[in-house]
Amino acid sequence: MEPILAGRRMRRNRRTDWSRRLVRETHLTVDDLIWPIFVVDGEGRRDAVASMPGVFRHSVDLAVAEAEKAARLGIPVLALFPYTDPDLRDENGSEALNPENLVCRALRAIKAAVPSIGLMTDVALDPYTSHGHDGLLAGDTILNDETVAQLVHQSIVQAEAGADIIGPSDMMDGRIGAIRAGLDRAGHMDVQIMAYTAKYASAFYGPFRDAVGTNKTLRGDKRTYQMDPGNSDEAIREAELDLAEGADMIMVKPGMPYLDIVRRLSETFAVPTFAYQVSGEYAMIHAAAMNGWLDFDRAMMESLAAFKRAGADGILTYFAPVVAERLKAGA
Ligand code: PBG
Repeated sequence: MEPILAGRRMRRNRRTDWSRRLVRETHLTVDDLIWPIFVVDGEGRRDAVASMPGVFRHSVDLAVAEAEKAARLGIPVLALFPYTDPDLRDENGSEALNPENLVCRALRAIKAAVPSIGLMTDVALDPYTSHGHDGLLAGDTILNDETVAQLVHQSIVQAEAGADIIGPSDMMDGRIGAIRAGLDRAGHMDVQIMAYTAKYASAFYGPFRDAVGTNKTLRGDKRTYQMDPGNSDEAIREAELDLAEGADMIMVKPGMPYLDIVRRLSETFAVPTFAYQVSGEYAMIHAAAMNGWLDFDRAMMESLAAFKRAGADGILTYFAPVVAERLKAGA
């Protein structure tokens, strides 16, 4: 029989495992991973987060052990999120400014025990406010400039406790510039800023709000400061501002539903661009796998490969330790 094609057979390169590996365009490595972990007061405490199978809130002593594990696996950065005791939450989120707060204690303990790992912190007021918003609330309005002043203070407190990367996730206007100036004035010119640049008002944060205890208390929603899911050009303007104000790295959040934004930002700006595979994305893959509807390992690895293909330089993901183990085992 005469061949039906004269040359272009795309399947030739796909025939064997070695060939598929040879022509693969993007690769996921452990260096791409940022592992978000939750901390809680107490000792020897390890509370499961019901909506995030395999995720726990660890007391500081056990968070140190998690950090040791991360370092052993070669994960470059941990991102810390506190579950603040409800008694310590108030209208103004004042606990965010306490140099002895949970995040600061965790930063100091991990820095002392595992100096080789990078530590990132979330700058926003939501784990500390009684109303669950990221900023100061007056009536039903989130005050911008007053909030920014407090976020600058929060950033300095975190930097003083050992944060290497400040991650403002609040979406107030002008906060990157103000935080950069505040950090520099306080002598922290080497502390990096990863801006939550395109952070959308998303339904996919539900399990995270369980983990930090804001789901039940959140009054209303966050649509007056987080981005509208229908927008893409607006992400460009946000990135222009964050970079002009001094962001070292930018981030898109959530991840998989917003890969188009990751692609646009990474191509337009050519700066380190990250994606946050958020709690709801993690929960969905687990839930489907638990029902036998998805192959857990393959769905997890494919979801992460997609971020690299979209142009992300790295991914914040709750899968980080599991993925790092797989990569180490040569999967
Ligand atoms: C809040 C913050 C949120 C997440 C990270 N920082 C939630 C929110 O904006 O309500 C979500 C992360 C996730 O869902 O995994 N400043």
